[in-house]
Amino acid sequence: MPVLSSRIAGFHQLTPSERLQKVADLCELDAQQVESLSQYGNLPENLASHMVENVAGAMTLPLGIATNMIIDGEEVLIPMVTEESSVIAAVCNAAKQCRSTGGFITSTSGSEMIAQIQLLEVSDPEQARLKILEQKDTIQALCDEVDPVLLKHGGGFRDLEVRVFSTPSGPMVVTHLIVDTRDAMGANAVNSMAEQLAPEIARWTGGRVNLRILSNLADRRLARARAVWTCDEIGGPDVRDGILSASQFAQADPYRATTHNKGIMNGVTAVVLATGNDTRAVEAGAHAYAARSGQYRGLSCWERTAEGDLAGTLELPLAVGLIGGATKLHPTAQTSLKILGVQNASALARCIAAVGLAQNFAALKALATTGIQKGHMALHAQNIAMMAGAQGDEIETVAQRLVEESQVRLDIAEVALAELRGKR
Ligand code: MEV
Repeated sequence: MPVLSSRIAGFHQLTPSERLQKVADLCELDAQQVESLSQYGNLPENLASHMVENVAGAMTLPLGIATNMIIDGEEVLIPMVTEESSVIAAVCNAAKQCRSTGGFITSTSGSEMIAQIQLLEVSDPEQARLKILEQKDTIQALCDEVDPVLLKHGGGFRDLEVRVFSTPSGPMVVTHLIVDTRDAMGANAVNSMAEQLAPEIARWTGGRVNLRILSNLADRRLARARAVWTCDEIGGPDVRDGILSASQFAQADPYRATTHNKGIMNGVTAVVLATGNDTRAVEAGAHAYAARSGQYRGLSCWERTAEGDLAGTLELPLAVGLIGGATKLHPTAQTSLKILGVQNASALARCIAAVGLAQNFAALKALATTGIQKGHMALHAQNIAMMAGAQGDEIETVAQRLVEESQVRLDIAEVALAELRGKR
């Protein structure tokens, strides 16, 4: 094997297949590995190579459809991209169990994003704060000039906030541009506005501008979902009370809240990814929102209704768009939007919130009853069977045996596969 140096001069100038060949030589990839990496699937190679740098291949993940969802009275099919077994089945089950009560009701708080401009080296930060606030009309005009298309679609500058922090390196004056980005996720629009405005802020205050960037704590872009599961449908009062107590656990303890929210994000991220949106932006925003009280808590709330049923609510920032970046470029993202049938970013965010709530219900119900492993292992067993080398109908047979024996292990799968092949 040649000595590997990660310094590969001119790597970025090569074509994707030349890059792949280079990596294959350096890392001794075999023909099958090279062939597999060069399968671009539903993302054309020339598109992939313009989406990110140094493209040398592609990686495909399964896209599944969650069924049974009713959102605001509409039947909706949900495309979800995930590597985790049981995530999609969980949404289907949760949604099925609340169809009798009408499914999910959703709303959003608006479509405003925040851009931050960090100002340093001001001796009189409170004066600086007011000087910036006095310029609101000028700031509005400058921001709206940056993105006339946004303005045409009813978006644009909405408001201004200026906050003063005392930090170890001195006072900081932080300006928030509050911008309605409508159907765009909005990062590019608000970042450009912040960059455009920064020199003016420095000029008005005599300070020095440092960072100019959006905040992913998109707390002016909340999506909400609620639903009711009848006590009968979910298996009785013990199940309901188990879910209620699980929810209180996540409100009281950050260790539990993290896992609770991870379950919600299993659903949220899968739809965000299927629609080509920025999964990291949504995840960062959700976790920061979960900690807004000063303690990290579960994002959902579960209550007992007057009728004794189980009501769930979820509220989280969801900065997703329909018109930018990978959402526009990736053919699968466009197909996902068509499957969802959403016409605007708010409708997309509302579907995602409903999926997050469904996912949370399914996880809490499983955890408060049989435990997560039973359902999870049934699907995971198929992965283990494939890892053992099972093919075609062998996968189901080997997986079934692992589940029956409650031993979802690779060594057992290998023995089961050998026995199965011996019999044939
Ligand atoms: C696993 O991916 C997600 C869960 O851990 C979520 C939870 O514990 O609520 C099951």
